[in-house]
Amino acid sequence: MTERTVGVVGASGYLGGELLRLLSSHPSLRLTHAVSKSHAGATLDEVCPWLADGHEIVLESDPGSLDVDLAFLALPQGEALPVVPSLLERGTKVVDLGPDYRLKDAELYRATYGREHTDPDGLARAVYGLTEVSREAIASTSLVANPGCYPTATLLALLPLLRRGLLPSQIVVDAKSGTSGAGATPSPSTHHAQAGASVNPYGGGHHRHAPEIREALADLGGGPSSAALPQVTFVPHLVPVVRGLLCSIYAPGVEPDEVLRWNEALTDAYRASPFVRVGEVPRLPWAVGSNRCYLATEAAPPSGVVYSAIDNLVKGGAGQAIQNANLMAGLPETTGLPLGGLGP
Ligand SMILES: NC(=O)c1ccc[n+]([C@@H]2O[C@H](COP(=O)([O-])OP(=O)(O)OC[C@H]3O[C@@H](n4cnc5c(N)ncnc54)[C@H](OP(=O)(O)O)[C@@H]3O)[C@@H](O)[C@H]2O)c1
Repeated sequence: MTERTVGVVGASGYLGGELLRLLSSHPSLRLTHAVSKSHAGATLDEVCPWLADGHEIVLESDPGSLDVDLAFLALPQGEALPVVPSLLERGTKVVDLGPDYRLKDAELYRATYGREHTDPDGLARAVYGLTEVSREAIASTSLVANPGCYPTATLLALLPLLRRGLLPSQIVVDAKSGTSGAGATPSPSTHHAQAGASVNPYGGGHHRHAPEIREALADLGGGPSSAALPQVTFVPHLVPVVRGLLCSIYAPGVEPDEVLRWNEALTDAYRASPFVRVGEVPRLPWAVGSNRCYLATEAAPPSGVVYSAIDNLVKGGAGQAIQNANLMAGLPETTGLPLGGLGP
């Protein structure tokens, strides 16, 4: 199997670290470069002594000059914009794990992130990398916008139902995430004293993933007119675990027999998707450490509920990024990725 060289940018962040961990035992994507603003000049051995391989790699400072076949960017919002054009120019394929290339509508990007999008060409060619939904487009592009963690869990649950016209006009996404979802920079709301023994709702009504979910439902939902798209209320919560994300998605007015049809729709949609399991109502630890998304349906009259559990750092970030890179490299999508979770 042909080997591809890869680099990780933002190496000292949480997703950067997870990419390094997964890539250090990948059989065909060979980690040769890593970029870190804060640790340039150090070796990976000094920064990440737990890695299986790649210890001798010296961290670099300039992402634009990376000499690799494919680069993973794990940077804060806005930081990928000056980097992506120079990488594509050099013929380097890119998987961007941040939000800069996810929203197709540049005006929506400005409204959501409060700044102009400076790379309209990149935005036009970027493929939204929800692997199970867009495999062919991902395999043939040079730029993948890896979805956010909450959108990954929500869209995998809702898109098959939307495509079959099985959703009512109002949906509530009640989402819970571990604190690693907020990244490595400490803040008052993620401080252990605030988040370590609590459940904290945050960002209801204005979380930046809500526009991403709505745009992707419209783009990938199989063509219903905007009048037929459900209105989505998205309310995230921080829960006192480090990893993992579970969405309970409520659809009022859905009868139990319709929930059975939901189950058929999900089972049919993911029959050939090794990283999606449709079955029992999941618990968070099942997904932790795994690239799987666990989906389940339940009748809770007078509503239907669909549950979706992932690891925010794996299927919600680094794992899905590698799944996409596998397709971009012509490899089976499962190559080098963990299927099993922590459990029980
Ligand atoms: N955490 C998650 O669960 C998750 C899931 C999906 C997507 N995402 C998205 O993926 C991206 C990375 O997430 P993360 O959780 O890994 O974030 P993080 O822990 O904060 O890491 C981001 C890294 O980017 C680098 N960086 C470069 N320029 C920077 C700047 N101006 N300010 C701060 N850091 C800078 C830093 O690493 P160096 O100093 O080593 O360069 C930093 O550690 C974000 O856009 C995030 O929204 C996160």
